[in-house]
Amino acid sequence: MVTSSDDLAALLDWYAALGADCALDEAPQNRFEETQRQLQARQQARIHAQRPQGQVAPSNPAGPAIVSPSRSKPSTPLPNSPSRSQQKATASSMPGGGAAFATSGNAGQLEDAAARAMHAPTLIELRKALAEFDGCSLKFSAKSLVFGDGNPDADVMFIGEAPGRDEDLQGVPFVGRAGQLLDKMMAAIGRDRSNSYITNILPWRPPGNRQPSLDEQAMLRPFIHRHIELVNPKILVFLGGTAAQQLLGSKEGIMRLRGKWNNYAIGSENSTRNIPVMPTLHPAFLLRTPAQKRSAWQDLLEVAAKLDALA
Ligand code: URA
Repeated sequence: MVTSSDDLAALLDWYAALGADCALDEAPQNRFEETQRQLQARQQARIHAQRPQGQVAPSNPAGPAIVSPSRSKPSTPLPNSPSRSQQKATASSMPGGGAAFATSGNAGQLEDAAARAMHAPTLIELRKALAEFDGCSLKFSAKSLVFGDGNPDADVMFIGEAPGRDEDLQGVPFVGRAGQLLDKMMAAIGRDRSNSYITNILPWRPPGNRQPSLDEQAMLRPFIHRHIELVNPKILVFLGGTAAQQLLGSKEGIMRLRGKWNNYAIGSENSTRNIPVMPTLHPAFLLRTPAQKRSAWQDLLEVAAKLDALA
């Protein structure tokens, strides 16, 4: 029981160490209402899954459109749209490379996600496809669809985990404290949002900033895969373990993955392109563990050198 201000401070420190960021919010939060909304979201997702294929749900009225791509690239077929047998497996081959974690969730919804993503010929269409996709309940608890920011013609694309509270409020990725650190990290190698592109593997904030489940990640995987294909950068930087593990299909921790070049495959079976990937530490982790900034700095120097070599 909390009986003194010291106890209260210790309790708040403990919450902060666990990653809670909204114990003290500007407005009171009705957690019962949040649960209710999630239940409704699940119901809507179920109803959507029972609709005949091709019948599209009404679009999400909320959520600012934030990316106006200056170019559109031709549609490339997804190399490996997940088949039913793949979806049922716990680990299966997914677009992009490695054996990614698949979902135990609804196979119809996964097929729907893959079809919507694959058929999006531009970033604007991909954002619309996400807004119309009801197969992930995070959509219904989030305030915004946080799609991407920066220059869609950039040669480097940074991919994080999921929007936090500030990103959800503003509809733009990496604008909170972690985002400010990311901006500084990018600036250290001569990068900013005018010559880089930034997004997340998930476009909706998980409630309370919890880690997205593997099912949620797998459900939205076709969208981030198509996002990468449409931006088609020279280099990818995966920020943190969740993005790196999901997109590389690896169970290795980020401390083992970071600092080593990897590849992410895009395109069709007939014409695949491997994009070099540098997994590095997430800026939110660096805020908590500043001693690791040196490692992230080394990783970014690798990125800068590779960009020079590819220029
Ligand atoms: N953390 C992320 O991974 N992405 C954001 O957009 C913000 C914080």
